[in-house]
Parts: sequence; structure tokens; C-alpha cells
Amino acid sequence: MRASRSPWIAAALVALVAAAAVAQPETGRKEPDVPYVTTPEPVVLEMLRLAKVTKDDVVYDLGSGDGRIVIAAAKQFGARGLGLEIDRGLVHEAEENARRAGVTHRVRFIAADIFDADLSGATVVTLYLFPSVNERLRPKLLRELKPGTRVVSHAYGIGDWKPEQQRMVKVGAKDHQIYFWVVPPRP
Ligand SMILES: C[S@@+](CC[C@H](N)C(=O)[O-])C[C@H]1O[C@@H](n2cnc3c(N)ncnc32)[C@H](O)[C@@H]1O
Repeated sequence: MRASRSPWIAAALVALVAAAAVAQPETGRKEPDVPYVTTPEPVVLEMLRLAKVTKDDVVYDLGSGDGRIVIAAAKQFGARGLGLEIDRGLVHEAEENARRAGVTHRVRFIAADIFDADLSGATVVTLYLFPSVNERLRPKLLRELKPGTRVVSHAYGIGDWKPEQQRMVKVGAKDHQIYFWVVPPRP
């Protein structure tokens, strides 16, 4: 009896695994909330300058793409960094870029959904996401980040959270806006 059922159980398991693979092709997690577009290097450097990044900082890039922000924070400013990225292929690319830049001892990249990750270890957070995603992230940022943590966003604000500073960086013909906040003391 047991032996005659096992092919059915095996087939059901195969179907289940195949369905999961189709639903979650890249990471075993959900689809990205924002497509992969890189921040130009001059904008990366201005974001890190605006946040006054130093060797004592831990920079988290939420949706770290090819790792450029975290790698620049380590290479140019001596910081440590963590990149959180939902696309496993990009995590591998960022690790390879960190190796080439010689900063693997200072940076780490993790395949993770930014909405599930623990952000409490950051002293600086960088974003290049959509306005709606920034707005959805805001309660998590204010809940998990330590007061005094600096937040810098390329291109978009965070709902009606008023930035402390705003800067424009021209790259070729394009103007890039950068926004800067400091996490306030807890109420
Ligand atoms: C616009 S790109 C920015 C890449 C990089 N931060 C930069 O500025 O060059 C946004 C990145 O966020 C990633 N992403 C989107 N939704 C995500 C999520 N929920 N969790 C983690 N990463 C996500 C995308 O795969 C993409 O690489």
C-alpha cells in the first residue's frame, strides 16, 4: 500500500517545488519593488559626502544593486557597509566588485527583502527606490534606526518627512536630486 502511493507523493512534491520556483525566480523571495538602475558615481560620492560618512560609519544601502554605494563608502571614506538586495545575481555581482575594489574585509552583501531585514545596525542608510517604496519604508526606518542615523535618498523624498538638506548634482544633461534626513529622538 505504502509503496504504491509513493510515486504520487513524489510527483506532488516535484509539482510543489516547481511551482515555488516559478513564483520566486530570483531569490526565493518576492519580485523587486523597484527595477535595477544605478546611481552615477558623482551622485554616489555626493550622497556619502552629504551624510558626512567616516570610517566609524556602517552604511546600509537598501536595494544595493551592483554594490557601488557600499563599496565607495568603504573605499573612499573607510566605512563599513552592508548591501541588502533582493536579486541574488546582483548580490554576486556586488561581491565580485567588492573583491576587485579590495574592500571585502569592510563590506557584506546579503540577498534579502529590505522590508524583512533588521536595519538597526546602520549609522547611515542610502536609498534609490520609488517614492511609494520610500513612503512604505518610513515607519520601519523610524522604528528600527537609532536616533541620529543619517538617511540619504537619490531622486525621491520620503513622503512628507521634511529633509534637513537637499542637493542637486548635474551629471551630463541630467539633474539628480539628493535628500538628507537625520532620524529624530524617539517620542
Ligand atoms: C534603483 S536600483 C538602485 C541600486 C543601487 N542602490 C544604486 O543606487 O546604484 C534599486 C535596487 O533595489 C533592489 N530592490 C527592489 N526591491 C527590493 C526589495 N524589496 N528588497 C531588496 N532589494 C530590492 C532592486 O533589485 C535594485 O537593484
